[in-house]
Amino acid sequence: MANIVIAGTQWGDEGKGKIVDLLAEQADMVVRFQGGNNAGHTLVINGKKYICHLIPSGIVQGKVCMIGNGLVVDPAVLLEEIDTLTDAGIPMGPDRLRISEKAHLIMPYHKRIDHARESRKKAGKIGTTGRGIGPAYEDKASRQGIRFAELLDDALFPEKVKRAVEEKNFFLQHFFSEDPVDPDAIIREYRNYARRLAPFVTNVSEELDTAIRAGKQVLFEGAQGTHLDIDHGTYPYVTSSSTVAGNACCGAGVGPGAITGVLGIAKAYTTRVGRGPFPSELSDAVGDCIQEKGAEFGATTGRRRRCGWLDTVLLKNAARLNGLTGLVVTKLDVLGGLESLKICTAYEWEGKRITEFPANVKVLEQCKPVYETLPGWSRDISGAKSMKDLPDAAVGYLKRIEALTALPIHIVSVGPERRQTIVLKNPFQGA
Ligand code: GDP
Ligand code: IMO
Ligand code: MG
Repeated sequence: MANIVIAGTQWGDEGKGKIVDLLAEQADMVVRFQGGNNAGHTLVINGKKYICHLIPSGIVQGKVCMIGNGLVVDPAVLLEEIDTLTDAGIPMGPDRLRISEKAHLIMPYHKRIDHARESRKKAGKIGTTGRGIGPAYEDKASRQGIRFAELLDDALFPEKVKRAVEEKNFFLQHFFSEDPVDPDAIIREYRNYARRLAPFVTNVSEELDTAIRAGKQVLFEGAQGTHLDIDHGTYPYVTSSSTVAGNACCGAGVGPGAITGVLGIAKAYTTRVGRGPFPSELSDAVGDCIQEKGAEFGATTGRRRRCGWLDTVLLKNAARLNGLTGLVVTKLDVLGGLESLKICTAYEWEGKRITEFPANVKVLEQCKPVYETLPGWSRDISGAKSMKDLPDAAVGYLKRIEALTALPIHIVSVGPERRQTIVLKNPFQGA
């Protein structure tokens, strides 16, 4: 039996949703373990597009989907997502969706603070998604957060909201010169959410334990990417949760022994949305070409994604931090038509060559990429079904990634559709 973690290796949007949907066919359960609706995971099945922000990407395969304790959940967004999927004909009852009673709530004041903070900053803006993610995790860490268990407690919930609002309103009014929020309106609004969401709320950790003991297979769906991790990413240009594979255990409530493999998802090039250093970024016609061909716009905010060459310093960092057992390379089709391709294999900083990812963001900003150049290919590969259908240059590019990262490539994606995928090794088969 296999229980696999899917982790982003770059700065998010690597195509995790597509791969989770594909692999969910062999899984019994799919669990999100961190983040919130800052995530936008896209699935395309027979021309129909779904974007999952909170609900795990196994939902279209009809699997049991779980929202772990490690998430921050905006209940309005969750209900909207449930309604959208229901309208698309996907059964969405409590037998399909389970929400941890320990998951934290994103409250209206979290969104207000996220926006106020970003618009107040001149330099040093993070470029957040504005969904209230950071302020919700701040409250969790400072023990002022409100969880689903408390949302369902009619006596405790108003008390907790009132206590939190007292401090938030002081902050909003006197630091940001913003209007206060109305605690009674929040209590009324959230009571409605509680009524609708109560049937879904459960002890996710216990349900997972029972399932794993019974031999069920679980996919743990990471959000964001390794270099947006609160500890290991390009701090402070990061998100507010731990995005690496180890957090699948904490954020879902399972022990490390349950995990049998970790697949890292990497785009065949690199993108980043929001601010922060990006050594292999391209600000020329090639970057524009990748951005257009790859339709690189954020699935959550619609922002244009910054594009650049593949960076194996990032991938090797991700391999170590996540304990990757294999790599999935997505969007290989997008690189078709370029005469030659570059891979960043090291950085140059103050005349020295470095291959370790620097912790100091100022150093990273000054790093110049060291490239090696490989031949490109002109043929459209979006219909490729196996490695034999790929031009030699595309195979050579993949082999070079394997050599540089010391990781085997298990899956290659050549288009957004579920079926546009070459599976070399399925982590659930032979497990
Ligand atoms: P996630 O956040 O990691 O799930 O990725 P997103 O869904 O935000 O962004 C990936 C985008 O690339 C989506 O629009 C996908 O439909 C698309 N996509 C995924 N794999 C491929 C691929 O192999 N080729 C192409 N052309 N598009 C892909
Ligand atoms: P998926 O799961 C790409 C980025 C934001 C910003 C930083 C902090 O779809 O890969 P936040 O709102 O989390 O406080 O913003 O993190 N970011 C993402 N970038 N993909 C994501 O998720 C992201 N989630 C957050 O753009 O730079
Ligand atoms: Mg995304």
